[in-house]
Amino acid sequence: MINKYRNPETPGSLFLSLEGIEGSGKSTQIKEIETFVKNKGMRVITLREPGGTVFGEKLREAILHSQTALHPLAECHLFLASRAQLLNEKILPFLLEPGSVVILDRYIDSTLAYQGKARGLGYDTILTLHQHDPLNLLPHRTYFLDIGLKTSMDRQNTRGNKKDYFESQKQEFYQKLLDGYREVAGMFPQRILKIDAEKSPVEVTKSIISDLEKILP
Ligand SMILES: Nc1ncnc2c1ncn2[C@@H]1O[C@H](COP(=O)(O)OP(=O)(O)OP(=O)(O)O)[C@@H](O)[C@H]1O
Ligand SMILES: [Mg+2]
Repeated sequence: MINKYRNPETPGSLFLSLEGIEGSGKSTQIKEIETFVKNKGMRVITLREPGGTVFGEKLREAILHSQTALHPLAECHLFLASRAQLLNEKILPFLLEPGSVVILDRYIDSTLAYQGKARGLGYDTILTLHQHDPLNLLPHRTYFLDIGLKTSMDRQNTRGNKKDYFESQKQEFYQKLLDGYREVAGMFPQRILKIDAEKSPVEVTKSIISDLEKILP
């Protein structure tokens, strides 16, 4: 199953994703990565999931502000529709030019953790759906920012934004989600680097940059 997946092939291009529960520091770290790779003379785009295209942003709105509970499979296919469009419209064309970096705020591992684990579809269902082109494109590296549930709640409360569809779920859902992320990190140890994101932002950035120094083309 795994060997149906592929990495971008353009020499000198880099495809990165950041994963982790709400408040784990993805947005914070993405800014640091952008600065770092720009200073290396690379061209970079950052995209978010769901969304990143005009069509995808409409789906994002439909999912995150849904007033009704969606069936997990409906939820899953909405995310995959957004992802396929993002890959085809933005990610694949951008990566064709050598020296390009795509940074994704959430990707396949979010679907594995949310819909696969927390919503109960199972990892195999999600992985099977990703065997088809263009969804079979995997990042060269994924940074999983690992924090506990209490830290997540504390950081979200500090931020004080209105809760979306997923953020208003019960504690039990969040525990499954976190378990899911940790299990998925264990399933793909070559690709996913798990980082203790309870540490200070500077410490987390150090871990990411030291890995990037090794994998930069
Ligand atoms: N390592 C850290 N230590 C303490 N606070 C942090 C750390 N990283 C980020 N924060 C703070 O926690 C809050 C959430 O961070 P951020 O928005 O980067 O998380 P996120 O993973 O992007 O969340 P979301 O999934 O909701 O977009 C922000 O107020 C940020 O300043
Ligand atoms: Mg964010």
